[in-house]
Amino acid sequence: MSENDPQPPTFIYGATRDWPGYFASVAGKPARETLLFALDRFENERPGDAIDLGCGEGRDTQELLNRGWNVLAIDGSQEGVDLLLSRPGLEGHPNLTTRVSTFESLDSLPKVRLLNASFSVPFCHPDHFERFWKVMTGAIVAGGRFAGQLFGDRDSWATIPDRSHQSRAEAERLFRGFDLEMFDEEERDKQDFQGIEKRWHVYHVVARKRG
Ligand SMILES: C[S@@+](CC[C@H](N)C(=O)[O-])C[C@H]1O[C@@H](n2cnc3c(N)ncnc32)[C@H](O)[C@@H]1O
Repeated sequence: MSENDPQPPTFIYGATRDWPGYFASVAGKPARETLLFALDRFENERPGDAIDLGCGEGRDTQELLNRGWNVLAIDGSQEGVDLLLSRPGLEGHPNLTTRVSTFESLDSLPKVRLLNASFSVPFCHPDHFERFWKVMTGAIVAGGRFAGQLFGDRDSWATIPDRSHQSRAEAERLFRGFDLEMFDEEERDKQDFQGIEKRWHVYHVVARKRG
């Protein structure tokens, strides 16, 4: 999963939640591999409704729209949503709805066949995580899929109090009721441009909800 990962210095922005800095550093990057993997799994089905949760500046939303999905793109950052809408053809796109909302304040979501959440779920505050997870997974119809990342308990950011990280067993438990189509655990050290080490401990997940 190296090509699509946050690379130095990109990842430093996530440490401090400097989302405008992050959006600038990922501008022009292609869709995430977890999303592409999930889309391949829908190959024989017609595109339907999707949510891109923590859509940021829209790399995944763009791919979903290109492939004919109806997308509800949600992010806590107005700047992210503004950047998404500034992509050519996306302002007023008939298949796109945007919403600025924090994960912590989301209390309902429409039913969808694909819920994409790339590198975003771990930024939900732990006090709200359980409810958020229920709302999020409750939005996926039987046979639908989750695509995205969770962060592990050995990740450097696991000690930041407002992050939600899971051990492998906890992460697997969260997907009870799903069949795991991808569950890639990645653990490696990286340096930012100042030489500061960060340990990445990430689960890359695509999971299909059972009927
Ligand atoms: C690391 S970025 C990932 C963005 C995009 N999905 C991608 O793959 O590049 C995390 C995204 O989650 C959003 N985010 C972080 N915490 C959030 C929260 N508590 N509620 C809503 N959105 C949040 C940020 O604004 C940002 O767009």
